[in-house]
Order: sequence, then C-alpha cells, then structure tokens
Amino acid sequence: MYINPRRVRKCQFVQLFATCFIVSLMIFWGPLDDGSVVSHVKSYSYRYLVNSYTFVNESLSLSRDDMDRTASYQYLINHPEKCRRQDILLLLFVKSSPENRYRRDAIRQTWGSDKYASSHLNANIKTLFALGQLKDPAHREQMQNRLQLEDKKYGDLIQQDFMDTFHNLTIKLLLQFSWVNKYCPHAKFIMSADDDIFIHMPNLIAYLQSLAQMGVQDLWIGRVHRGSPPVRDKTSKYYVPYEMYPWPAYPDYTAGAAYVISSDVAAKVFMASQTLNTSLYIDDVFMGLCANKMGVVPQYHQFFSGEGKAPYHPCIYNKMMTSHGHVEDLRYLWKQATDPKTKNISSGIFGKMYCKIVNIVLLCKLYYQDTYPCTAALF
Ligand SMILES: *[C@@H]1O[C@H](CO)[C@@H](O)[C@H](O)[C@H]1NC(C)=O
Ligand SMILES: *[C@@H]1O[C@H](CO)[C@@H](O)[C@H](O)[C@H]1NC(C)=O
Ligand SMILES: *[C@@H]1O[C@H](CO)[C@@H](O)[C@H](O)[C@H]1NC(C)=O
Ligand SMILES: *[C@@H]1O[C@H](CO)[C@@H](O)[C@H](O)[C@H]1NC(C)=O
Repeated sequence: MYINPRRVRKCQFVQLFATCFIVSLMIFWGPLDDGSVVSHVKSYSYRYLVNSYTFVNESLSLSRDDMDRTASYQYLINHPEKCRRQDILLLLFVKSSPENRYRRDAIRQTWGSDKYASSHLNANIKTLFALGQLKDPAHREQMQNRLQLEDKKYGDLIQQDFMDTFHNLTIKLLLQFSWVNKYCPHAKFIMSADDDIFIHMPNLIAYLQSLAQMGVQDLWIGRVHRGSPPVRDKTSKYYVPYEMYPWPAYPDYTAGAAYVISSDVAAKVFMASQTLNTSLYIDDVFMGLCANKMGVVPQYHQFFSGEGKAPYHPCIYNKMMTSHGHVEDLRYLWKQATDPKTKNISSGIFGKMYCKIVNIVLLCKLYYQDTYPCTAALF
C-alpha cells in the first residue's frame, strides 16, 4: 500500500496537537474536576488519542521484596481434585457470598448445573462458587458450619479466609486465578460471573464449542468498558482516590458481571497479577490492568449484558448469552429461555423476519436503556 508521506506528517501533527490538548486539559481542569463530564471527555480523549498504558507496568509493579511479602490467604474449603484428569470445556467461577445460599441453590438448579450441561449439551463444565468469610465475626462460626454442610451436599464451594466484602473483590479475583493456575490450567475456557446473573448455557456452550474447534487463543470476551474514567466522587461505591490511580482512564476491561477467557489468557493474567499492586479493589479494573500488562485486549460481545438486563422475549432468548439482575425470576427465565418451543419461533423465513422486527423494537429505543445495544438487533 502506498502511503503519502505528507499525510503521515499531518497525522502526526494531529496526534501531537491532541496530546498537547489533553495534557493541558489535565493540568488546567484537573483541580476543578468534580463533574463527570470533564472526566469523561478526558478519559475518552485519552483512550482514543494516547491509548498507552505503559505507566501500569512502571508505577503499579511491585519490587521483588514486596512480591514475597504479599499476603496469601488459606483455603477453608477446597476441592483440588475437581478438574483432575478430565477434559473440561468450561470452568465457571460464580462470585458468591456466604449468606447467598438462596442464589447458589437457584443457580445449581438452572444454568449452573454440570449435569444439565453433560446430559443436554454434551459438554463437560465445572461450576464452582468463590467465597470469602462472613464479615460479621459474631455469626461467622455458625455460618461456617452451614457452609460446610452445604459443601458436603454439593461439593462446589471454594473458600479462603479473607473477609467477603465489596472492597475485597480483587482478592476474590486472585483466588479464582490462582485456583485455575494450580488445579485446573487445562480447562479450555474460564468464566467468572456474579451470583445474580443469568447465563444462557445452551447458547454459550454452542458458542464455546465452535471456538474450541477453531482452537481459539487470546480470548477475552464480554461487555467491554472502553476508556472508563476512575470515579472521583467519594460517595460512590466505585470511588478510587488519586493516590491509588492518578491517571484519567482505565485500560479497557470487561464488566465483572460475566466474562469468558481462554486458558492462555488465564495463565497470563495470573502471571501479571503476581507482579502488580493489588490495592485497586475494583476487580474488573484490576483484571484490565493485568491483561493490559500482558498485551491481552478484550472483545465486545453484543449479547453479554454487563450490568444491564435483557428484555423478556423468546426472540431475545435465541441469542442471549448473559443478563444481569436475576434472583427471584431465575428459575422462570431458565424455563422460558431453554424451552424447546422457543427456538421454533424464529425458525423459517417468517420467524426470522418476525424476530428481527421484535428485536429492533425491544433494543432500539430513543432513550438510553441498559441492555443489549441496538446493533445487536440489526446485525
Ligand atoms: C515491565 O517492567 C518490568 C520491570 O519492572 C520489566 O522487566 C518488563 O520488561 C516490563 N514489561 C513491559 C511489557 O514493558
Ligand atoms: C479484606 O480481608 C482482609 C482479611 O480478612 C481483612 O483484613 C480486610 O479488612 C478486608 N478488607 C476490607 C476492605 O473489607
Ligand atoms: C500499593 O499502592 C498503594 C496506594 O494505592 C500504596 O499505599 C501501597 O504501599 C502499595 N503497595 C506496595 C506493596 O507497593
Ligand atoms: C419445532 O419445530 C420442529 C420442526 O421445525 C417440530 O418438529 C417440533 O415439534 C417443534 N417443537 C415444538 C415444541 O413445537
């Protein structure tokens, strides 16, 4: 391809100009920055014009001494044999909390059932729940006994002795990656999901089986957050102080609600996680930092919902992968979404046309709604 040298110089000039613009924004607007508009302008310009996160490696890497000193937590409940000597398509970690027994039971009876996957989908999957300890020390022992009983019955809890709190989610992320690294490095895909999510297992397994056949590597897929700015509002759950992360944008990452990675990515992220400062407690952002250090880029999948919720409709069920915010309705949704009749609605030329129109009506709205994007209905 012929490239005009004058064009190149022009491009470089534009980039230089843009960089100066952003730097001046940071200097002059920085101290005034309370409004999220400013921080979004900064972060998006940073993301699209500079897009270099070398400081992650330079500033957040630990020294050798610190690496040896990082705390490691003991397993209270573990199943080292879970994956041994088996071909595993998907290892699924559900981030749960000790008190969420109701949610775990619903998941075991619906999309998290390993038995369903092997009998209906011809796939070997392992579903495990990642837990810490109950925060409240007064009830901890009682809860621990209950968890032991639960685990005796189902054998699917993995628990370490850190406090199970929002600000310890990065520790829970480390639990998952170190467990995979130690006990299940051969699983083809690894998924991490919240315990209030719905996963359309038949769709997901079919998709992963096709990827496995192609021998896909370097896979990290979900709802991608591009160029998100750190939240500087102290009242927010996601508040991150300047001292912890002084830069205007995070590297791209997938919403922690549900994402899938291939085993090579799991190994890389684990490696990076051992060398970075883990004080950043937003687990999906921390994962983004690890991946960025290893040169892994997330891919956007339109039917991974992130924090959003899917509309209830058979035409949506045919394509959905994940949907967020399902607790009470999990069993209902599972029944509807996996009903064999559901597939028939979109079959044939009229079915396809009907579903296309329904999906456009459901997803392409003039006002913002947190669900699948309009483009998911169009293509
Ligand atoms: C990151 O930094 C370490 C030293 O702290 C260095 O050995 C390594 O090569 C760097 N990696 C990249 C991708 O720059
Ligand atoms: C995280 O867990 C550790 C170990 O149990 C505990 O000392 C710490 O207070 C917890 N941090 C938060 C923010 O809950
Ligand atoms: C990690 O970063 C925090 C600031 O966010 C800092 O206080 C802490 O000392 C760092 N830890 C290490 C081991 O460098
Ligand atoms: C779905 O359609 C197929 C033919 O396309 C038919 O054999 C099957 O009985 C239908 N299933 C239901 C539940 O209607």
